[in-house]
Amino acid sequence: MLGVRKPAETSVPVAPAIAERWSPRAFDETATVSGEQLTALLEAARWAPSFGNTQPARYLVGRRGEPAFTRILGTLNSGNQAWAFRAGALFIGVMVTTNEKGEVPYAEYGLGLASENLVLQAVELGLIAHQMAGFSPDAVGTEFGLPGDAIPRVAIAVGSPADAAVLADPRRVERELAARRRLPLAEFAFGDGWGTPAL
Ligand SMILES: Cc1cc2nc3c(=O)[nH]c(=O)nc-3n(C[C@H](O)[C@H](O)[C@H](O)COP(=O)(O)O)c2cc1C
Repeated sequence: MLGVRKPAETSVPVAPAIAERWSPRAFDETATVSGEQLTALLEAARWAPSFGNTQPARYLVGRRGEPAFTRILGTLNSGNQAWAFRAGALFIGVMVTTNEKGEVPYAEYGLGLASENLVLQAVELGLIAHQMAGFSPDAVGTEFGLPGDAIPRVAIAVGSPADAAVLADPRRVERELAARRRLPLAEFAFGDGWGTPAL
């Protein structure tokens, strides 16, 4: 099944994985994420930079059919469950906020960097990925026995693309096909002063 492509419209070419990445909800419920792919996703995340190499990012993960997948799915809000059940794998990104020196600086930033690595590696593998804040961190903490300094911050669905029609509901199909938008570069990067376009 062919997925929807919505490449970023850029004024000059950017890295293909960055251009191709977007956040689809139409996943192929028959496709699987292989063990090798799963390892590559986690390796990409593991090698992200972090403040002082403090490495605050951790992941919970399950592939469709495994108990951990069902348990992660159960922590998502209903709007996300409605499409994420078709993913090949579900992740919860967790930031560890303390170490032997005390509070880990920039822990959330570190988890963000690791998670974007994971997402871009997914695209590189021909997969799709969709990050979600719509889940219950408390439910994750209870379900997986997280210590108090391990804070679940993001859920990520990874899998294979499907036709938007799998979403069935016409409004959801429309949203899946809608154009992606970004601020213009002139409102994004400044040079001589705040608000003065750099380019
Ligand atoms: C931290 C974060 C939380 C998000 N939470 C959700 C979510 O709960 N449900 C959802 O459908 N999309 C979620 N998204 C996806 C965003 O809506 C999406 O990335 C944004 O609209 C930009 O679109 P693009 O990723 O296709 O470029 C989230 C993205 C991020 C980075």
